[in-house]
Amino acid sequence: MDTLPTAPLTTTFDPTGYRAVLAAASRTWNIHESLEATNARIHDGAALSDLDARADGYASNVLSLYPAQLPTNGNWLEIGSGTGYIMEAINRALIARNARAASIIGLDVAPSMITKGQRRIGNTPPFSFQHYDGITIPLNDSCLDVIFSVASLQHVPKPFVYNLFLESHRLLKHGGVLIVQLLSFGHLAKQQHHLPWRQEIANQIHGGGEHWHHFYSRDEVETILRVGDDFRAIRTWDEDGALWVSATKS
Ligand SMILES: C[S@@+](CC[C@H](N)C(=O)[O-])C[C@H]1O[C@@H](n2cnc3c(N)ncnc32)[C@H](O)[C@@H]1O
Repeated sequence: MDTLPTAPLTTTFDPTGYRAVLAAASRTWNIHESLEATNARIHDGAALSDLDARADGYASNVLSLYPAQLPTNGNWLEIGSGTGYIMEAINRALIARNARAASIIGLDVAPSMITKGQRRIGNTPPFSFQHYDGITIPLNDSCLDVIFSVASLQHVPKPFVYNLFLESHRLLKHGGVLIVQLLSFGHLAKQQHHLPWRQEIANQIHGGGEHWHHFYSRDEVETILRVGDDFRAIRTWDEDGALWVSATKS
């Protein structure tokens, strides 16, 4: 029978190793192309003329999942803001509900997305954009009322999403709310028709292909947010493969 080693196993660990996975996952977003080409490429095949309507639908979902009265003059952050359509739609929806935002910050890992978002909607309040390294969000603790994310986190490798939950808890004020859209495993059967699972996994292992997809169960997300991150009032909805989540910082 093998004996267990008495000395600790080697702890040599290359901290850049898993970051290389994040870099590979992020590469597909940082492509030098026209704003129009980006808008045509990154919005699930929606026609350019439909992008406002698509964003209004998502904004309406986000606001309907907000568990309390919407904050007035709140500070909002979108994780994975792309060219800014959802930020604009959230602003429109808040104005329509007499709950203006003081700020709506678009956070993105891809510098070219930040540039395109700024070019499209500008940096005039309430809008601003913030680039980050995919790990640490360069904002102060407890400065935000709402953090939301749509059509973005399903492309991010899981440990970095789990880390974004921790970062969200740090950044939210007490009573602040996190609302995110992920993919549930129900989405896998649909994806299977155009991108077989075997190919998805090969893309992720070899760092190739277009954007990658990661799937979640409700139990997984609820447990992580409650036990791992100390969020409260966690609610999840599986809407035909889209997993919507809302959670409150107590
Ligand atoms: C499909 S686009 C969605 C943009 C916007 N949310 C919308 O629905 O119009 C995905 C965005 O997520 C960004 N993204 C990818 N990985 C990210 C990460 N780790 N952190 C933040 N943003 C990320 C991409 O650069 C891209 O702008």
